[in-house]
Amino acid sequence: MLLAGCQGPQSALDPAGPAAQAAAWLWWGMFAWFGLVLLLVVTLWLVALRRSPRQYDPEQARQVGRRWILAGGVLLPGLTILILLAFGIPLGLRMLPLPLDGPPPLRIEVTGHQWWWAVRYPETGVVTANQLILPVGRPVDVEVASADVIHAFWVPRLGGKLDMLPGRRATLRLQADRAGRYRGQCAEFCGAQHAHMALAVEALETPAFEAWQAARRTASPIAPEHAAAVEAFRPYCGECHRVAGVSDGRRAPDLSDVGARRSLGAGTLAREEGAMRRWLREHQRLKPHNGMPRHDHLPEASLDAIAAWLETLAP
Ligand code: CUA
Repeated sequence: MLLAGCQGPQSALDPAGPAAQAAAWLWWGMFAWFGLVLLLVVTLWLVALRRSPRQYDPEQARQVGRRWILAGGVLLPGLTILILLAFGIPLGLRMLPLPLDGPPPLRIEVTGHQWWWAVRYPETGVVTANQLILPVGRPVDVEVASADVIHAFWVPRLGGKLDMLPGRRATLRLQADRAGRYRGQCAEFCGAQHAHMALAVEALETPAFEAWQAARRTASPIAPEHAAAVEAFRPYCGECHRVAGVSDGRRAPDLSDVGARRSLGAGTLAREEGAMRRWLREHQRLKPHNGMPRHDHLPEASLDAIAAWLETLAP
């Protein structure tokens, strides 16, 4: 159990980029240093227990006490703070969006909503939700904001954590040195479904990333058998959800590539056979109080048709 936190898609102790590496070093440094402090305090405590009250000399106690207060109350904390600063300042610099010598970092805008993530690539206009796709080996400046309450952006294996405050923009630099799938999670309690606010992160090699961006710039074609589903979707779901080429809603997650995502409801339901239908029918049971109304007034056949069509949205 003690070692369970050292691995996994969301472990800060298994870094996959320079900023996360610095955070991991800081963590291990603190662990070692505070381990030593604990050892010292326990040793002193055991020594004190062995002293008998008869050996107590008030005058000597006053003398020794002053020395210990100076050492334990001033020197040791001062040294601790200095060591933490020596570790912490370079770490903090790695997370700041400072100017770089090489090509400029990729910008990605991430906006927190109750309880999902809007993700936008300003250079290409590509929009997605609840997933962050980035290129390997290139610094990425994540510009965070919030549409409602305070959330926090955190992908532990790639970099530090940053609060997403309503009315304010802030930028965090991170980088993935290895292709792979990582997991982000809202790190600030933001309401009933805070736990169901996961971000699926994937780092792709540059050609694959460029191909992904290019594919997302074109709308999925609508096959004739899905025409009825699109007509049912547009006036109702389309008020809140955008689907490229179909609807332009802005209040809810963009669904233009929902058929290619790893989960539904920001990590609530894994994508598998039948998951989309289940989500459309039971979303208020699976993720209570989420912003989507129940669809009871829609005929089952209509819901199934919409689900089947959404599954195909994978440009
Ligand atoms: Cu958003 Cu917690």
